[in-house]
Amino acid sequence: MKIAVFGAGYVGLVTGACFADLGHDVVVRDILPDRIESLRRGEVPIYEPGLDELLQRGRERLTFTTEVAQAIDGADIVYVAVGTPPTYSGDADLSAVWMVIDELPRVDRRIVVVMKSTVPVGTGEKVRHRLDERRMTDVGYVSNPEFTAEGTAVRDFLHPDRIVIGAFEDADGELVERLHAGIDAPVVRADVASAEMIKLAANAALMTRISFINEIANVCEATGADVVKVAEGIGLDRRIGPSFLRAGIGFGGSCFPKDSLALKQLAANSGYHFQLLNAVIEVNELQKRRVIGKLTERLDRLRGTTVALLGLAFKPDTDDTRESPALVLAGRLIAEGASVRLWDPVATADGLPGVTQVKSVSEALAGADAAVLVTEWPELREADWAAMCSTMRRPVFIDGRNMLDPAEMRRLGYVYDAIGRAAS
Ligand SMILES: NC(=O)c1ccc[n+]([C@@H]2O[C@H](COP(=O)([O-])OP(=O)(O)OC[C@H]3O[C@@H](n4cnc5c(N)ncnc54)[C@H](O)[C@@H]3O)[C@@H](O)[C@H]2O)c1
Repeated sequence: MKIAVFGAGYVGLVTGACFADLGHDVVVRDILPDRIESLRRGEVPIYEPGLDELLQRGRERLTFTTEVAQAIDGADIVYVAVGTPPTYSGDADLSAVWMVIDELPRVDRRIVVVMKSTVPVGTGEKVRHRLDERRMTDVGYVSNPEFTAEGTAVRDFLHPDRIVIGAFEDADGELVERLHAGIDAPVVRADVASAEMIKLAANAALMTRISFINEIANVCEATGADVVKVAEGIGLDRRIGPSFLRAGIGFGGSCFPKDSLALKQLAANSGYHFQLLNAVIEVNELQKRRVIGKLTERLDRLRGTTVALLGLAFKPDTDDTRESPALVLAGRLIAEGASVRLWDPVATADGLPGVTQVKSVSEALAGADAAVLVTEWPELREADWAAMCSTMRRPVFIDGRNMLDPAEMRRLGYVYDAIGRAAS
């Protein structure tokens, strides 16, 4: 089939590259000329493991353009994978989605618009209405939400836990199902509103687990239990399972924070106060700031200190810094009068006032009063902690991801604290 993908971001590029890999012809359209130019030159504008190889492999079947007409020409399917960031009210900003819908030209055959972007429940209904108003009744609409995680997006797309397809017309849903031929996964066929809600509810469930284990961690700290052991013990219960039970300094990223706000707002707009989700969001915000309390306890006061932040990306294997806990920490530290030195192997801190980005972990730690492990980059597991300890002015180390071995770090001389574990 011929597929047009609107949006060459994390989701659009992975979607386009994976469909090309499955044998479809794909045209990816973006409004950013630089992005399209670099893709044409064979450069990948984002960091996502495996994407480079996939784009190379599929280059015969992949075209990049800024032109709507070129993207739609001969297309059977139009995937919408544009951003849906939050507005000031917390609602999802659908302006990029509407731009795609309103720019769709009339064509003399049936095409199906497929929504990959995460949108509020009811968006499909509104898009249907808008298309009908333009007398584009022959344009079908399907919701096919995306569940991939950055860092493992290619694998997640090609080996998903499930494919969710919500269609107004059965035939359109079947077309989208056929598009995924070659992917071995259960298909959940639903109405459009339910498909939209599945995406929001799945994210909310994952965030709830994170905030739950973070609260358990905080109680562990107050009572002398170790959250890593507790998570292991509860995760082995088949009814609970082990995933998303790692305590830390809270979630960030381009999806969880905005999608939780959008669901909260969606519920509120419909007259429902979603208490549990409100608590999940609040716990997460407080969790990011708990590190400041730990640092203050160790350093007495933050003014005049230098703090090394290890990791800027909101999680490893991505260069995405949207809503990263590191940004919140950096902002708070600077507000308290500390200097921030930041290391990340991939992400960059362009334009962050008061933050100096350095090229190595050892550079970040040398002369620092404290270090905070913010993102669990694999290279941090292998770092030469023994050599770096004596280079710090004060060897205070807060492991915000419970990544390192507390006993070993203390043996090396660090004043090591983690999340939900006994303090030094
Ligand atoms: N990033 C993820 O891991 C992830 C996972 C699941 C779902 N999602 C959802 O997928 C959607 C896209 O997310 P993303 O992270 O890929 O966003 P992104 O910001 O990385 O990419 C969006 C791209 O769309 C482009 N764009 C804007 N208007 C356009 C238009 N009219 N035509 C063509 N391109 C246009 C932008 O220039 C940008 O390159 C969002 O709704 C997001 O919530 C993201």
